[in-house]
Amino acid sequence: MNYWVVLPAAGRGERFGVGAPKQYEALPGGVVLEHALAPFLRLSSTDLRGVVVVLGSADTRFATLPLAQHPQVTTTTGGASRAASVLAGLDAVRARGGAEDEWVLVHDAARPCLSAAELGALLAALATPAGQASGALLALPVADTVKRAASQEANAGGTPELAVVAATVPRDGLWRALTPQAFRLGALTAALENALRLAAAPGGSAPTDEAAAIEALGGAPLLVPGSPYNVKVTLPADLEFAATVLRSRAERTRHD
Ligand code: C5P
Repeated sequence: MNYWVVLPAAGRGERFGVGAPKQYEALPGGVVLEHALAPFLRLSSTDLRGVVVVLGSADTRFATLPLAQHPQVTTTTGGASRAASVLAGLDAVRARGGAEDEWVLVHDAARPCLSAAELGALLAALATPAGQASGALLALPVADTVKRAASQEANAGGTPELAVVAATVPRDGLWRALTPQAFRLGALTAALENALRLAAAPGGSAPTDEAAAIEALGGAPLLVPGSPYNVKVTLPADLEFAATVLRSRAERTRHD
């Protein structure tokens, strides 16, 4: 099955808490972004039509990576929200000859531990009738009990980093959305344009994943069970976890 990859990497990673964007943090064998793309390029022989990496306008790091010379990889400049950055990536796919009904896999530049097995499961889901109709995303059932916190005002006088419980959210049927998320080029473009229009209205906000934009137009994407190792590097502890996962995979490959 032919597909394109869009890798949004234009975020500033403010929650990570250091100067450099988190996608350029070092891991064994390469930076976070290089690991994020590796599983796609390993499978590149047949089905991959091309990769578009979406960069911040001030990015000077990407061009220094060997990946920048890869024949299937091109770059474009992102926007103020993830949705705007992905939309810029979709424009670049179209400019490279992508057809409206072709699949685009959107994968966070900050997820360095995607496995070949997860990628295979996602692509297999796209061949099912539900996948064909609305696309699919990797996701994980929520294991912890989930609490909603009260607003900060309800915590008046308390320690700012502590929160007060407002409610327990039943976790039945709740999944955490991971990436890649796969949708057809035309459908995802229409959904993100719609989402950004709504976000521009007073009180509106941009969607935090692609599936949310598809759902808003009535789509029902497939949830494909992913791996708990497919971590998004958001905090320094996530980087340590990712390093451990990659080291143990490299170790296993050496012993195979
Ligand atoms: O901010 P968050 O961790 O959810 O970002 C997820 C992905 O979206 C990251 O790879 C980040 O670089 C990207 N992003 C982007 N453009 C933005 C904001 C986030 O490409 N304006």
